[in-house]
Amino acid sequence: MVSYKEIGLVNTRAMFAKAVKGGYAIPAFNFNNMEQLQAIIQACAETKSPVILQVSKGARNYANQTLLRYMAEGAVQYAKELGWKRPQIVLHLDHGDSYELCKSCVQTGFSSVMIDGSALPYDENVALTKKVVRYAHRFGVTVEAELGVLAGVEDEVAAEESHYTKPEEVVDFVTKTGCDSLAISIGTSHGAYKFKPEQCTRDPKTGKLVPPPLAFDVLKQIEKKLPGFPIVLHGSSSVPQEYVDIINTHGGKLPDAVGIPEEQLRKAAKSAVCKINIDSDSRLAMTAAVRKVFVEKPGEFDPRKYLGPARDEMVKLYKHKIINVLGSDGKAK
Ligand code: G3H
Ligand code: 13P
Ligand code: ZN
Repeated sequence: MVSYKEIGLVNTRAMFAKAVKGGYAIPAFNFNNMEQLQAIIQACAETKSPVILQVSKGARNYANQTLLRYMAEGAVQYAKELGWKRPQIVLHLDHGDSYELCKSCVQTGFSSVMIDGSALPYDENVALTKKVVRYAHRFGVTVEAELGVLAGVEDEVAAEESHYTKPEEVVDFVTKTGCDSLAISIGTSHGAYKFKPEQCTRDPKTGKLVPPPLAFDVLKQIEKKLPGFPIVLHGSSSVPQEYVDIINTHGGKLPDAVGIPEEQLRKAAKSAVCKINIDSDSRLAMTAAVRKVFVEKPGEFDPRKYLGPARDEMVKLYKHKIINVLGSDGKAK
């Protein structure tokens, strides 16, 4: 058993309480490899932003769980080396799908876990979440749960209201499970194709897709029912058009990729939403930079020469999110 405290990590409790009060959101950036982790830590150290390092089940399989635990420990030390005296870093399991996986993460140094029972019938989601909370809290590990289903690109009814979190369920769910934060569904979804073209309108000037707005009325009702309770938004990448364009003009093919407009995330960050999940934008930044090197310098085969520019681009992206979208800069001095 490795406790997150030994590694120098923190859980989400105080971080979220401060963010809800302060009207900003903590960045939750996914990582799978060294360059992403370096970029996240550099961006957060330079802006003094608290951060949640997210690891999905797939990332854990990809990177190896032992290596990951030491990477997180290394991240804390690296942050200090960069001059960040008191780094506020959470290591979080993203979309945990079983009690066993959550337990294993608690035992290997994670300071926060998500148990995602959102696809289960309500009572089963409650029972599973409650079981994870009981275990995790014994070790001071905080738990994120989910209620409502995020639409997926494969759904016929992406961003359909029927998927939204039902405000009338949230008090009962939080009370019964004891979870520390709640991921809700108000129209965001995962990946780079969050909406189908037919769900969007077109900007007459640019011809670009304009997605439908998030359901802020549902968020408001949830906030009213759970005053001050930490709310989480998944699927919050903006899918920056400049990255999509670089990818498409350098041999890639991402037709009609569309994300959540940043002004809507800015609005959400000022509310009870205190954790905003971003993964796809980092993938796009990395892919755009790598594709550019491959096209412009076809003779290049040193990975540092294409992963280096990818890392630089990710630092730029993360700092932009922290300063201009989430407002978390300067909150972990
Ligand atoms: O919510 C999903 C995250 O973007 C993680 O994706 O399962 O491909 O690692 P992944
Ligand atoms: P994006 O695909 O919008 O980046 O969402 C990531 C996420 O929600 C991870 O849990
Ligand atoms: Zn997610």
